[in-house]
This record gives sequence, structure tokens and C-alpha cells, in this order.
Amino acid sequence: MNRILVWDIPTRIFHWTLALSFSVAFLTAESERWRDIHVYGGYLALGMIGFRLLWGVIGSHHARFANFVRGPAAVIRYLRSLISDQPEHHVGHNPAGALAIVALLVLGLGTGISGWMILNEIGGDVFEELHEGLANTMLAVVIIHILGVIVSSRLHRENLVGAMITGYKNGHDDV
Ligand code: HEM
Repeated sequence: MNRILVWDIPTRIFHWTLALSFSVAFLTAESERWRDIHVYGGYLALGMIGFRLLWGVIGSHHARFANFVRGPAAVIRYLRSLISDQPEHHVGHNPAGALAIVALLVLGLGTGISGWMILNEIGGDVFEELHEGLANTMLAVVIIHILGVIVSSRLHRENLVGAMITGYKNGHDDV
């Protein structure tokens, strides 16, 4: 067993800043009083996602999209393996986790851009509906994401949350 640096510092900062900014923006969404905080939270999330899209191309091995985004067949194979005696293990993101990550990035982008349009009075009421719908869908995916992290941590007996804090996992850097 080796101690492997899986998540570089930019990926970890991105993750926890996105989690915090999304939570702040979501919790302040309904209040006029917290409108500025809501908008700053949204801008921060949008900025972080912009950075992650770039880091997904130029970042370190496990941060690059090419090294973890997989097609539907790989996602189905991974999910099937979870109910077998030999669940597939990935040092970086597993294919199902990667799908949730891509969904979060796309939804976050759509939520941020539609919020910016509302703020600048571009488009009409339809963008308010869209903004709220995308944010609620994002919350649903966040819940699935957190459940996925819990299930995967238990199945593989590894501390995934700890790895997203320290950057390190124990194992063989085989995938
Ligand atoms: C308490 C809440 C959360 C926990 C414990 C958590 C935990 C984690 C963990 C352990 C990973 C790595 C998964 C793996 O090993 O493959 C991860 C990745 C990720 N999470 Fe979370 N997460 C949380 C909240 C959120 C929220 C609120 C968002 C989005 C709004 C989010 C978005 C992401 C993204 C985009 C990644 C991929 C990181 C990257 O490669 O850049 N997470 N999360």
C-alpha cells in the first residue's frame, strides 16, 4: 500500500469553496435582506466552476476530465459491480461519481448564468423559473453525490471525505 496524492490543492480548494458557496447561495435565495450575499455566493460558485473547467484540462492526473469522465457503459458496469462481491475500485473518481460531478458543473454553470441574467434584467420571467429549477435540481444531485460518497466509502473501506481534505488515499495508483 502506498500513500498517494490523489487530489491536488486547487481541486480541494475548488471543492470546499464550491460546496460552501452553493450552500450560502441556496440558503439565502428566498430573502431580500440577504440578496447581496446570495449574489456573491453565486458569483463565487460560478468563478470556481470556470476555474475547474480549465483545471480539468491542465490540472494534475486525477483532476483531468480525460482521466475520470466515462461513458454510460462504464457507469452501468460500475453500478452493477457494487452489488457483486467484487465492487470496482478507482483511485480517482469512479464513473458514477464522475457523472454526478459533470452534472453539478453543468447545473452550477446554468444556475449561475441564469442568475446573472436575472440580475441584469436580460430575458424575462422564464429565467427566474429556470434559475430556481436548476438550483433545486442541483440540490437533488448534491444529495445523491453525498449519498454516493457515503456508500462508496463504506464499500471500499476508505475515507473519501478525509481524502478530499488531505488530498491523500492509501492504495495502489493503478487507475
Ligand atoms: C458535506 C458535503 C460534501 C461532502 C462530504 C463531499 C464530499 C466529496 C468527496 C469525498 C469527493 C471526492 C469523491 C471521490 O472520491 O471520487 C467530492 C467530489 C466533488 N464534490 Fe463534493 N462533497 C460535499 C458537498 C458538495 C457540494 C455541495 C458540491 C456542489 C455544489 C460538491 C461538488 C463536488 C464536485 C464538483 C466534486 C469533484 C471534485 C473535483 O474533481 O474537482 N460537493 N465531494
